[in-house]
Amino acid sequence: MKVLLKLSFLFTCFQILAQNSFQLTKIERHKSSQKIVSEYNYDGSKAPFLHGVASGDPLPDRVIIWTRVTVANPDKNIRVHWEISPDIDFRYIINSGYVTTNENKDYTVKVDADKLQESTTYYYRFKLYNTYSVIGKTRTSPKSSDEIENLRFAIVSCSNYQAGYFNAYQNIANRSDIDAVIHLGDYIYEYKKGGYGYSSNRPDRGHESQHEIVTLEDYRVRYSFYRLDPNLQDIHQQHPFITVWDDHEFANDAYMDGAENHSDDEGDWNLRKSNAKKAYFEWLPVRENKEDSNRIYRKISYGKLVDLFMIDTRIEGRTKQINNHNNSNSKKFLAFSKSQKNKLNWAVNHMVENSFNDNLDYNEKIKISNYISRALKTETNHSLVNSKTINPFSIKELNEIKDILNKAEKNLKKKSLIKNRQTLSSSSILGDEQKSWLKNNLKKSSATWKIIGNQVMMTPFGLKINRFSKSWYSFLIPKWMKKWHQLNKDDWNLYTNEKNEILDFIQNNVNNVAILTGDIHMMFASEVEKNGSCIIPEFTTPSVTSPNLDLLPDWAIWLLKI
Ligand SMILES: [Fe+2]
Repeated sequence: MKVLLKLSFLFTCFQILAQNSFQLTKIERHKSSQKIVSEYNYDGSKAPFLHGVASGDPLPDRVIIWTRVTVANPDKNIRVHWEISPDIDFRYIINSGYVTTNENKDYTVKVDADKLQESTTYYYRFKLYNTYSVIGKTRTSPKSSDEIENLRFAIVSCSNYQAGYFNAYQNIANRSDIDAVIHLGDYIYEYKKGGYGYSSNRPDRGHESQHEIVTLEDYRVRYSFYRLDPNLQDIHQQHPFITVWDDHEFANDAYMDGAENHSDDEGDWNLRKSNAKKAYFEWLPVRENKEDSNRIYRKISYGKLVDLFMIDTRIEGRTKQINNHNNSNSKKFLAFSKSQKNKLNWAVNHMVENSFNDNLDYNEKIKISNYISRALKTETNHSLVNSKTINPFSIKELNEIKDILNKAEKNLKKKSLIKNRQTLSSSSILGDEQKSWLKNNLKKSSATWKIIGNQVMMTPFGLKINRFSKSWYSFLIPKWMKKWHQLNKDDWNLYTNEKNEILDFIQNNVNNVAILTGDIHMMFASEVEKNGSCIIPEFTTPSVTSPNLDLLPDWAIWLLKI
């Protein structure tokens, strides 16, 4: 049953406050509150629980319940009442209590509500100053000894506010047949307003705060902003969540000691990482690990049917991506590409960047890019006038092309030697501790299905550029580009040793393992293979909003011939 209870008569006084002096997060967060609050367009009738309610990490006897209080002049400590009941009218309160929140928790409220029965739907709510929150609905998991016939999870990832509306969340919220929502990361994005995913067609979806988030305050404001979205509030109100973070809860392509989108002028990475973690644990209904509050990987069991292993391939133990070409040369070239008004040139530049990355320097990449563009233009003109192809290059230019490609080939060979050496030595995506935990628990599990909730793809994802294979100017395209080409520079396939180790372990020790994956913004059902046999099936969920290859314009599809 869908919960749509609104105690609007109790909220009148809070609505008035909201229009005048409300701060959406802690006090003094926004200087010009009047203006910004009106732009947020939140539902004032929910005050002081403007961010709604949420639940998560269900166990047979307990579940995390969550809310946040937003009041104009908060006391140092605020005591919030909570209650949980198997009936929506709260005739029988199964557990209740008070919990204190304050500035140190960003006024978020999190309770591990226990004394519950397994496999049961519960309703919960909070109360402050005689005002109730909306009622949330949640569900406990079965006991590990229980026979379960079936389960249904909604799997989501990559919910970039700037990239669209959260209709996917709303559709899941509208369903009543879901045991839990599994969020595989990129719940928020760190970019500034107008950054990745933004479109001027949706000016109402720009990020707040408007700058890239770095400080604790920044991360808190970003969560607060996302959680004012009505669709996101609704899905949290209707279903328990089981979440893990990916990179954008920190910064793009993050790893243990840094991130592609983190530079020295943004301060110390470890500080940024701990800010991001703190805000995550404050704002998400996730149970903190008692032994190590920074650790997010954990197991959640659903009867004899499923053991769900939520892992952290991002922050816990990941070493730097060896292939991650974020050097200044690439950045400079990509900036040049963006400045291109001609769409075909822009596409060619991207292709050149992806294929040559740091095997060529900036000027060489521009030269190759211009040669390819010129060849394409000649081909287009040729087909328009239907005359014979004219080679547009002089002997001198052809020699130059040959030299540049030879140099790139040589650099690539050198780089792959270094890469192999590094891969063999110390690269890791899980870290030793998590890896042993995963192996031990997979082996120990007696559940029929062992499901791994994971961030980045295990199945190699790439493409082959067929467009030029039969062209007269095929010589312009380096050999390795005509072969299959790994596209994702951030997934398990950069950590082949560890990937193989896990696959070998599963093949030799565990049956019925499947992996759920996010990150790539596209949907795949694939087989993770080793030596030609399928070790585990992988189910990759599409994004909630983040852009994907479906959105490539026709000219780019034509160029790539995917
Ligand atoms: Fe993403």
